[in-house]
This record gives sequence, C-alpha cells and structure tokens, in this order.
Amino acid sequence: MSVELPPVCDAVLLGEASIQLRVAELGAQIAEDFADKDLRLITVLKGGLFFLADLSRAVDGPLAIDFLAVSPYAPGQGGVVRMTKDLSDDIEGAHVVLVEDVVDTGLTVNYVLSLLKGHSPASLSVCALLDKPSRRIAEVPIHYRGFTLPDRFLVGYGLDLGGRYRNLRFIATLRDEAVLS
Ligand code: IMP
Ligand code: MG
Repeated sequence: MSVELPPVCDAVLLGEASIQLRVAELGAQIAEDFADKDLRLITVLKGGLFFLADLSRAVDGPLAIDFLAVSPYAPGQGGVVRMTKDLSDDIEGAHVVLVEDVVDTGLTVNYVLSLLKGHSPASLSVCALLDKPSRRIAEVPIHYRGFTLPDRFLVGYGLDLGGRYRNLRFIATLRDEAVLS
C-alpha cells in the first residue's frame, strides 16, 4: 500500500529518495545549529508524525521529541485553530524546533508558535518540510525549509485526504476528481 500509487493520485511529486535526502540535509543543519543545546523537536499531530520520526533520526545528537494536536474550527470561523492535546514536557529554557509537514495559510504555525512562546523556550524556530507560499494569510518565519511548492493539494508522508494516505512513503498530487469530491 505505501509504495504503490493509489487510484485517487495523479502523480508522484516528491519520491521517497528525494524526501529522505532533503530530510538528511535538514537534520544535519539542525544538528550543527543546536550542538550542545537542550534541543526539542515538537510536531503537530497527526501530519507531522512521519517527518518528525525521520528528521529526529537524521539529527546526530541528544534531543527530545514532543507532540501537540490542534484542530481547525468549523469553516467560516476564519480558519482559527484550537489546541486539543498539550505538550507532555516543560520547554522553559529549551531550544524548540517546531516541525511541520506543510505550511499553507500559515494559520496553524502562527497559532502554535504563539502557544509555544508562552512557555518561555530559550529559542523557537520552524522546520517545515513543505512550504506552499501562495495561500499564505499569516506571515510565519520558516528557518528550515524542505521544498517550496505551488498550490496543489497533496497526500502522503503525513499529508491526508479525509484521514487517509498519510502512510505513503512519497508525496503525490491528486486526480482532479478526487480534489473536487
Ligand atoms: P495551514 O493552512 O498553514 O494552517 O495548514 C494547516 C494544515 O492544513 C496542515 O497542517 C495540513 O494538515 C493541512 N494541509 C495543507 N495543505 C495540505 C495538503 O496539500 N494536503 C493535505 N493537508 C494539507
Ligand atoms: Mg492535516
């Protein structure tokens, strides 16, 4: 299942090898930037789970991981999100990298950054595997960026369509019929 292109998909946009190569580069950069620091990689469930798992293992050095979850309010409420699962560990004085699968409108990262800032980390940066800048509403800083992509709905490597396809090892575009339905 996770290696075959599902029927709803149109084409593979980023293959497993290119994703893993870029993740390794990002991990090496983060390891260098936070050597000897109390590093925490925090992601937003569920989409960031796969990227976090690979990225954390590409960072050579001690680090801790943690998770939070947010859910969007109903459409028409401005795309605002609310937290549904809080962090497990205290991050005061720690160097936090927020790990995100995709930054689209920027509203999620913007909201999560404001939450994290409230816990007084020593530093706070953002690592996004995918940046889709064309739909940005909230300007957010992205310190580590995997790929910059045009506005296409994508599935795989954490990204879902109705909860499915997160387990694909690649990132794929959808057939037009699947986007519309
Ligand atoms: P935001 O618009 O930057 O707040 O992104 C919010 C969330 O939208 C992301 O964390 C993803 O869960 C979801 N999202 C954005 N673009 C895509 C996509 O292409 N496929 C699947 N989910 C997406
Ligand atoms: Mg999602």
